Amino acid sequence: MSLSVDPQRPLQLGVVGMGRAFTIMLPTFIQDTRIELVAGADPRNEARLQFERDFGGSAFENYELLLDNADIDIVYLATPANLHVEQITKIVSAGKHVLLEKPMALTIEDAQQINEIVEEAGVHLVVGHSHGFNRPIQQTRELIVSGIYGRLQMLTALNYTDFMYRPRRPDELITEKGGGVVFSQAAHQIDIIRILGGGCLKSIRANTGNWDPARKTEGAYNALLTFEDGTTATATYSGYAHFDSDELMDWNSELGSPKNPDVYWQSRKKLTSNLPKINEEDLKSSQNFGGADYNSKLINQDESRQHQHFGTVIASCENADIRPMPWGVAIYSNDEHLENRLNIPAVPRSEVIDEIVNAIYYNVPPTHDGNWALANLEVSLAILESAKNREEITLKHQVPIAAKGT
Ligand SMILES: NC(=O)c1ccc[n+]([C@@H]2O[C@H](COP(=O)([O-])OP(=O)(O)OC[C@H]3O[C@@H](n4cnc5c(N)ncnc54)[C@H](O)[C@@H]3O)[C@@H](O)[C@H]2O)c1
Repeated sequence: MSLSVDPQRPLQLGVVGMGRAFTIMLPTFIQDTRIELVAGADPRNEARLQFERDFGGSAFENYELLLDNADIDIVYLATPANLHVEQITKIVSAGKHVLLEKPMALTIEDAQQINEIVEEAGVHLVVGHSHGFNRPIQQTRELIVSGIYGRLQMLTALNYTDFMYRPRRPDELITEKGGGVVFSQAAHQIDIIRILGGGCLKSIRANTGNWDPARKTEGAYNALLTFEDGTTATATYSGYAHFDSDELMDWNSELGSPKNPDVYWQSRKKLTSNLPKINEEDLKSSQNFGGADYNSKLINQDESRQHQHFGTVIASCENADIRPMPWGVAIYSNDEHLENRLNIPAVPRSEVIDEIVNAIYYNVPPTHDGNWALANLEVSLAILESAKNREEITLKHQVPIAAKGT
């Protein structure tokens, strides 16, 4: 039984953690009329000042004070993942619904605890944003389920980025604290693969790469993911800032805006040239909400923006390869090449708000609920374990995608 909210009014949202993830979600919260941003919490003074300037709402150093606001329906929890379990316990005890950033937690036990307390409190939990929400992925899923191209046989996902050379907090370079590309980036690829393959993976065999002694966490992985029905998927990721696979996405960035191929190579150079002058954590904060180099216009606002993506994905069915693209979905069938162009959402990432609103107003179970996110986390943990022990890992917590699709 869920807490009910009047569907006639926008959901009042409070944000806890106004860093990078919030900076990227902010255009969604501002532009989607189903949401009203009313309060924020962050230990960073500059983020609180910017919040008060931009939204006139209250901003707190201690997030527990934000929870005293009875008008807040939902909290967007975007703090580092090692804080999630403790914070979400207090948030749901205050009767708030939660939009929780991925990964939901760092252990299966913590994720199970989150799901238990959410269930007991009778609130809704949506875990995201992740790129499985993107419309081209959803349409690819619909085409697979329709069966018109025959049975799904194989999935291929690859992404080459500069993730390891974007400024990082110290914890982001320590795997046990949620650092590295497996916790942070595999969360997107696994979400996409499970959505397209139906959800229930059986086993994982993976290798990880930890190639830069100055940044000692996983910066790359290769994984073979086998579904219960025998369909297989491969996921490849490198964050070492060499090849940029946005080249394969018509030079559109992950956030859907056009990318200049010439500036790509600068991230490693920029980081090393900045570090003698500024501590890396401060460098990251300076680009986030309220920071000295924060520029809201740069994020998610480009008029020529297309759909967001997470690198190349190919779904191979018996009679066609289907490829989500920044402009829609490309279909390479036995006898033709089709381009399904999809309207760009007026509000970026509005698919996330769709899931929240449908859950809170109409009690529609979200695709990205706690059980789905726990199953995603299980796969990330299995990638790490498989790489460490050089063995195939059998999964135990997988769930199918809800019958309604995504
Ligand atoms: N979905 C996405 O596109 C996306 C993008 C980036 C990060 N993330 C996820 O978001 C989470 C945060 O990562 P990030 O890159 O935004 O980190 P970040 O360091 O940029 O931001 C974290 C923010 O939380 C604040 N914070 C720390 N302790 C707090 C507390 N007790 N109460 C309130 N605020 C507190 C910090 O001051 C900081 O502003 C991670 O789980 C990460 O995986 C998701």
